[in-house]
Amino acid sequence: MTLPPKPAARPDNVSLRQYVRLFRKDILSAQPARLYRAWMAEFRTPFFRSYLLNQPDLLKTVLKDRPDDFPKSSRISEGLRPLLGNSVFLTNGETWKRQRRIIDPAFEGGRLRDTFAAMWAASEAAVRRLQAHEGRVVEIEEETSHAAADVIFRTLFSIPIEHDIASQVFDQFRAYQRSQPILNLAAFVPLPRWFPRFFRRETKATAAAIRGLIRQLTEERMAAIRAGTAPDDLATKIMTTRDPQTGDRFDSAEMVDQVAIFFLAGHETSASALAWALYLVAANPDWQEKIASEAADLQEDFGAVSRLKISRDVFREALRLYPPVPMMVRQSTCPERFRDRDIAPGAQMVLSPWHLHRHERLWENPDAFDPARWGTENGKQCAREAYMPFSAGPRVCTGAGFAMVEGPLILSMIVKHFRITPQGPPPVPVAYLTVRSRDGIRLRLERR
Ligand code: HEM
Repeated sequence: MTLPPKPAARPDNVSLRQYVRLFRKDILSAQPARLYRAWMAEFRTPFFRSYLLNQPDLLKTVLKDRPDDFPKSSRISEGLRPLLGNSVFLTNGETWKRQRRIIDPAFEGGRLRDTFAAMWAASEAAVRRLQAHEGRVVEIEEETSHAAADVIFRTLFSIPIEHDIASQVFDQFRAYQRSQPILNLAAFVPLPRWFPRFFRRETKATAAAIRGLIRQLTEERMAAIRAGTAPDDLATKIMTTRDPQTGDRFDSAEMVDQVAIFFLAGHETSASALAWALYLVAANPDWQEKIASEAADLQEDFGAVSRLKISRDVFREALRLYPPVPMMVRQSTCPERFRDRDIAPGAQMVLSPWHLHRHERLWENPDAFDPARWGTENGKQCAREAYMPFSAGPRVCTGAGFAMVEGPLILSMIVKHFRITPQGPPPVPVAYLTVRSRDGIRLRLERR
């Protein structure tokens, strides 16, 4: 079996200048191959230290056991601040805890069932759009971005992507992405903290335009809630939920920050995962056929999604090989001793789903596409200890359950309708806003 694409690693020893240059090109190929075997690695720069952690018990310490001692690193937030303001993705401490108390109930299991009709409608719309390309080659990342954005607008605001404001947000967001990649270099590049960070004028202007559009949506919704005419969707749920501890709710301004993150975190990630999953099934026709037969009698029924077991295993495998969020960064706040090394407060702790998911000492055949692994002993153990596409602990992705319904559903719907084959050279994974293909992913679609 040919292995799915993996970026070439850099040589073990390079100077800081070379590293920065490689990093600018792509964070994944800037890393040495030894990180796929190491339990922990240290990076020294003149202004701060960073440590990449791959050892399951250390990850547990940082994410699950003592998350308050390892808040989100502010360095990683810099690139997102203009767009996301004070959203739950960027905050820490009490502010973050309060925001999660209000947001989490909207994503509980029971509520997920309520969003299903909107997800189903979005997956049908995605199939209809693809039908226009039958017999031709499509760049699938563009299609999955469109589909995932549609899911978010339908579930959050009960509007499809064709809605005037929704489509403007989607278009503006693409411009933002081009001007400001999420993995802002400032997060890793050795600039001292006092060094001013400049955002390009264009980045700020686009962020302001997106926030203006979102403000319009949230203000209209606030008015509808007051008038008793609001639809029962995620936005209404989040805007009417009171913090169980203080009794207060998000006002319209706070809601703009939260909607911005739902849109960003909720569509970029799912779009990336779905595009890679479709590439993997295109390259592995045996698995594609298994999904197609499992999906043959798929109906609009929430319960049916739980029966999409093969599709779910394939989607999980896509999230393992191409985790949309390849790395996360936390900051130490007190002196630590990890693997006999002293770690000073202020160190950057890099948690890398990308390396953990392909760790050579943990996974059997780490670089192979094998959805059957989830049924093996090794797969089950790694699923518990070495798999974190949605992070882990109290700061786990709020949309994890949502994404695990949406992803397999859309994957199954597309494979049910089309036979897909890869076209051209294999895609090269790079980390942009999420893990994407450097030159797009081209697939040929034929009607089944
Ligand atoms: C395949 C799809 C997705 C993946 C792989 C993913 C992954 C992640 C990861 C790794 C984080 C943690 C980041 C960090 O700690 O630095 C995160 C956070 C978050 N995600 Fe997702 N996500 C997905 C879909 C979604 C969806 C659909 C939504 C909402 C509808 C969502 C909303 C959020 C929010 C609000 C946070 C911030 C949570 C916090 O910091 O407390 N995500 N996601």
